[in-house]
Amino acid sequence: MQYGHHQLSPADNPINANEKWWSENAGDYLTEHGEILGDNDFIWGPEGLREADIEFLGTLTQKKVLEIGAGAAQCSRYLASRGIDVVATDLASGMLTHAEKLNHTYGIEFPLIQADARQLPFDDDSFDVIFTSFGVLPFVPELTEVHNEVSRVLRTGGIWAYSALHPTRWMFPDDPTENGLTAIRSYFDRTPYIERNDATLDYAEFHHTLADHMNSLVDSGFTIDELFEPPWPAGRDIVWGGWGPQRSHILPGTLMIRAIAN
Ligand SMILES: C[S@@+](CC[C@H](N)C(=O)[O-])C[C@H]1O[C@@H](n2cnc3c(N)ncnc32)[C@H](O)[C@@H]1O
Repeated sequence: MQYGHHQLSPADNPINANEKWWSENAGDYLTEHGEILGDNDFIWGPEGLREADIEFLGTLTQKKVLEIGAGAAQCSRYLASRGIDVVATDLASGMLTHAEKLNHTYGIEFPLIQADARQLPFDDDSFDVIFTSFGVLPFVPELTEVHNEVSRVLRTGGIWAYSALHPTRWMFPDDPTENGLTAIRSYFDRTPYIERNDATLDYAEFHHTLADHMNSLVDSGFTIDELFEPPWPAGRDIVWGGWGPQRSHILPGTLMIRAIAN
């Protein structure tokens, strides 16, 4: 097993690898993080910021809403339970199986569709609002491929809002303690983090700098409306991977962007 920052080889297909990884690891991921996410809640990241409190998506009544990279679709379930017209999509069938079970448990119905966010099975201009909470973007080499597809299925004037790993995190070890506060990599080094078993690529995660986020959105025809870096709330003592109270009050962990389709 090889893991760390390494270049991909020409034969690697990171999207297929991530589809398999997220399907096979869906159960473990939800055992570890499901309680923090809540089965039926909409948080934007480990800081625990709730859509209910910040209304980053604005008013959703009478809107058609799409979640991409939905995982077990906790955010969509929260919206659907409040009568919002929402469709949830994800690359990994294993994640959607958990989403289906949770829908059944809570008696909440909304469409769950397996789709790579770079090729969405929807007509042009189908949605008013598209969002993801930590889905898709860290797992694709080219942000523009996602933004272009979101732009296609979003109506003019529609909202594209997302949270993702804060770009500064790439420089630091993924360690929630103070050991995670010493930079060990260049911010400008985009070599992906990969996991490989012999010749097979199992997982890949990609670094996008702040300029990569901004420029790819503009190139795909969006106007950036808001950029937000949620602070770590005082007294929040959970640990999630590299997030935790020890260093997260010093180092931002999450980048949130809201953009409008031109
Ligand atoms: C960290 S989870 C985010 C989902 C959920 N909001 C959560 O916090 O658990 C990342 C999700 O992105 C999905 N994903 C990765 N690459 C994708 C792609 N190209 N298209 C759609 N979904 C993708 C994964 O399958 C996974 O369910």
